[in-house]
Amino acid sequence: MIGERPAAAIAADLGELAHKPHVAAGLAVLGQPGSRDAIATPAAVLDLDAFDRNVARMGERARAAGLVLRPHAKSHKSAALALRQMAAGAVGVCCAKLAEAEALAAAGVPSILVTSPIAGAASAARAAALAARTTDFAIVVDHPDGARELGEAAGAPMTVLIDVDVGLGRTGVASPEQAAAVVRAIAAQPMLRLRGVQAYGGQWQHLPGANARAAAVADGMVHLNRVIAAIRAAGGAVEVVTGGGTGTFQADAAQGVMTELQPGSYAFMDRDYREALAADPDGAFEQSLVVQARVITVNQDRWVTVDAGLKAFATDGPLPQPLTPKFAACAYRYFGDEQGLLMRPEGQEVARGERVDFAPPHIDPTLDRYELIHVVQGEVLVDILRLEARGASQ
Ligand SMILES: Cc1ncc(COP(=O)(O)O)c(C=O)c1O
Repeated sequence: MIGERPAAAIAADLGELAHKPHVAAGLAVLGQPGSRDAIATPAAVLDLDAFDRNVARMGERARAAGLVLRPHAKSHKSAALALRQMAAGAVGVCCAKLAEAEALAAAGVPSILVTSPIAGAASAARAAALAARTTDFAIVVDHPDGARELGEAAGAPMTVLIDVDVGLGRTGVASPEQAAAVVRAIAAQPMLRLRGVQAYGGQWQHLPGANARAAAVADGMVHLNRVIAAIRAAGGAVEVVTGGGTGTFQADAAQGVMTELQPGSYAFMDRDYREALAADPDGAFEQSLVVQARVITVNQDRWVTVDAGLKAFATDGPLPQPLTPKFAACAYRYFGDEQGLLMRPEGQEVARGERVDFAPPHIDPTLDRYELIHVVQGEVLVDILRLEARGASQ
């Protein structure tokens, strides 16, 4: 169990990583009062109690709406966190890529849906291998040739879902006609079992305002229902309708089309979501994961320099947001690859070595930059997790 493992068990799990001096230094103080301060920075630091509250809150929402919860593991990339979500009621997890699924399956995650279509015989063979060794495995498909490749690779029955484009234009069948063609291609493959559809409206997730998101989802569901009707008319089964994210959870539940929801960011949150959702009930999730940084230079009158710059955060979103109360009103900007500039707080001294926590701009690609998640309870470092699926984008 996360937070209850002795340092030796963590070290065994971390393997070679445990011998890096900065990791060993953390393990040496594990469980001691104030050990959070000893974490080498910049670091991805998870408040375990806040994570558990987020997971419980989403679980309650899913139960209340009568929906299956399959959180997206692309946010955390960690088998231990996936299993913790499952222990709290999630049916399994989603993975964005085969390599992500391979890493989590190898670490014992028993139920995985791969949410991106794949292309080519080599990828199809990997999907077949995953299906053979995972208790419950499914993958999306959005083209007749994709169905043929999967069917030819599968040595045993394999579950597939048709990925439906609900306006993002990224993946998925773009019309009812394309969906019907995929149904026919699946039916021609004896090893494939069509169970339903996936529809992910990524473009809706960060719309500010619950009403704006609800209106966008309602529009999208009209299109999705049309595609589902075409799939059924072509003889396809649609028992599962999966999709949705942190931003549209309530709207998806209210529309009643989805049977399974796949939010990811809610477990950690980020500045982008904090700002888009803050004012409405969708935003009731805590910033459980922060990038913990440290002041390294205090020689300027108006600002200090912290050890977290462009390499510490994904930079596609807004700027990192200082959360440490003393610095909460201080503007941050990137100060090169390894450093950040933080304006001094009004009327307060800042010491070298002071800690500053930041909400990352965009959680998924930020966390992909870290080898480890340091788990804390209050000021105590209680565990160190490997991100088995970090960098697994193949
Ligand atoms: C297919 C799919 N489902 C679910 C999610 C989770 O969305 P969020 O992290 O916004 O909750 C994503 C995120 O990109 C996704 O691509």
